[in-house]
Amino acid sequence: MTQTITVIRGDGIGPEIMDATLLVLAALNVGLNYEEADAGLVALEKHGDLLPQATLDSIKKNKVALKSPLTTPVGGGFSSINVALRRHFDLYANVRPATSFPNTKSRFASGVNLITVRENTEGAYLSEGQSLSEDGEVALSSVRVTRKGSERIVRYAFELAVKTGRKKVTAVHKANIIKSTSGLFLNVAREVAKEYPAIQFEEMIVDNTCMQLVMRPEQFDVIVTTNLFGDILSDLCAGLVGGLGLAPGANIGETGAIFEAVHGSAPDIAGKGLANPCALLLAAAQMLDHVGQPENATRLRNAIVATLEAKDNLTPDLGGTGSTMSFAKAIASRV
Ligand code: NAI
Ligand code: MG
Repeated sequence: MTQTITVIRGDGIGPEIMDATLLVLAALNVGLNYEEADAGLVALEKHGDLLPQATLDSIKKNKVALKSPLTTPVGGGFSSINVALRRHFDLYANVRPATSFPNTKSRFASGVNLITVRENTEGAYLSEGQSLSEDGEVALSSVRVTRKGSERIVRYAFELAVKTGRKKVTAVHKANIIKSTSGLFLNVAREVAKEYPAIQFEEMIVDNTCMQLVMRPEQFDVIVTTNLFGDILSDLCAGLVGGLGLAPGANIGETGAIFEAVHGSAPDIAGKGLANPCALLLAAAQMLDHVGQPENATRLRNAIVATLEAKDNLTPDLGGTGSTMSFAKAIASRV
């Protein structure tokens, strides 16, 4: 039976990079059916609802979604639909690989090959527990870390290391200062690490981690950390290897998975055909691995590398003069 996946085209640069990605997947002949569903601003305009029930039903049924970015207003306004989706389906593991690619405008053209495993459902990203006093002088926000949440994310990181032949897991924390929440995460990480004697375990304080990542990123293999630190570190890692245009991510839970770019809707370049489609394409490669098509995932990654090597129609963020679609066609021609 042909597998159906839910496709969310998103807003900003979302529709452009989704068109590009589906074009390359068609060239790969992956044999998937696509069911389109709306979320975010587009859904609000079309259905009067930021996250329609039909979209939730589609993802629940298909268990796999490929999703473009969704805009979230900064400061006030509605809370993030991305975060809501991750929490709704309990997609607790946010898995973000950062790999050096040829011909990117990056500090590290080689040597970076790491995965950030970010806890995706708790930590500082709770939508409840945020308040501002009536006089506007004091803002509060609560952070919740649980033993269960910490244990399953650290275990996920170790299992990923075992499955992919990686050697080391680094738990990133701030338990020296935030002794309660970050302390619980670190203690659980230490306990889980004991069950994996074949994998090297290391712990590192988050500020030092930032410096180490910029100076010597090759020392890292798998990083596991809480929600906010993981969000920030994975953008930093994207920057090391040539920017957000090359950084994919998977949100994985027990009953479903949503694959997306690390980057957002990039309103500054939306509608101009300038967006690099590689982040969503690399997310699609993660999706192909997930749905049992690892050969196609490898073909896709190899085609991206070959196109970068040939400097064929690279988008402006990579120093080229290509467009979203011409770059995608160049990749499609190499699958
Ligand atoms: P952003 O990631 O959209 O953009 C940051 C910078 O990177 C911009 O200069 C942008 O032009 C560039 N950029 C991003 N993707 C690119 C691509 N594919 N090719 C070339 N350049 C690219 O982050 P920003 O501006 O902070 O956020 C914009 C909106 O996106 C916000 O509403 C935010 O909440 C939302 N967002 C959504 C995410 C999601 O849907 N998962 C993730 C991150 C942000
Ligand atoms: Mg982010």
